[in-house]
Amino acid sequence: MKTFFTNLGSAVALAALMFACAPTPPTPPADFIAGDSNLVNVASSWTRIVGPLVGTAGADGSFLGAAHRVTDTTAHRTVYSRNNFVSITKNATSGRYPIGTMLVKLIRRRTDSTVIGGAMMVKRGGDFAAANATGWEWINLSASGQVASRFRSDSAAAACVGCHRTRMSNDYSFSLK
Ligand code: HEC
Repeated sequence: MKTFFTNLGSAVALAALMFACAPTPPTPPADFIAGDSNLVNVASSWTRIVGPLVGTAGADGSFLGAAHRVTDTTAHRTVYSRNNFVSITKNATSGRYPIGTMLVKLIRRRTDSTVIGGAMMVKRGGDFAAANATGWEWINLSASGQVASRFRSDSAAAACVGCHRTRMSNDYSFSLK
């Protein structure tokens, strides 16, 4: 009996120790700024949401015009997501995805899957673009999948937001569910 209680005591102590040592998840910064260092191993370490897609309609039949090189039938599009701090869950009250959420669309050549371009949305936080697209920064990626240009002002982002606005009810994202 004494052994039982001793063992039980040890087990409780061990559990307490494990709990105390459990790593706490990192806290998202007030303003998350993503760059090339975040764009490493996207295909292997991010979550693939949708794709590869070919053709002139979005995955859900949405309007695409000529954006994202959809008229280039030699290319396909795949969308990935990642957040290094929290799970990507829409806040029930604000209807927004959390700060630190990164969405990347990689455009690849169909014949050999080489990346030839892409686009990115990053949930910045703070009051970034508060009046326009709720904190998303819009970025074009280069042929090597790195940051090529950022559309930070409301007017610069207008071309992207004009279309993504049709998904305002899903915090401007087509692919996130
Ligand atoms: C003509 C409409 C249109 C325009 C303009 C547009 N997008 Fe998109 N975008 C879409 C659709 C539709 C999708 C869904 C995925 C697909 O079908 O390729 C999408 C998907 C994305 C995604 C993947 C995440 C998601 O919401 O699905 C990113 C990132 C993205 N767009 C960034 C941009 C950026 C940056 C710009 C401006 C430079 C831009 N988009 C302009 C229609 C558009």
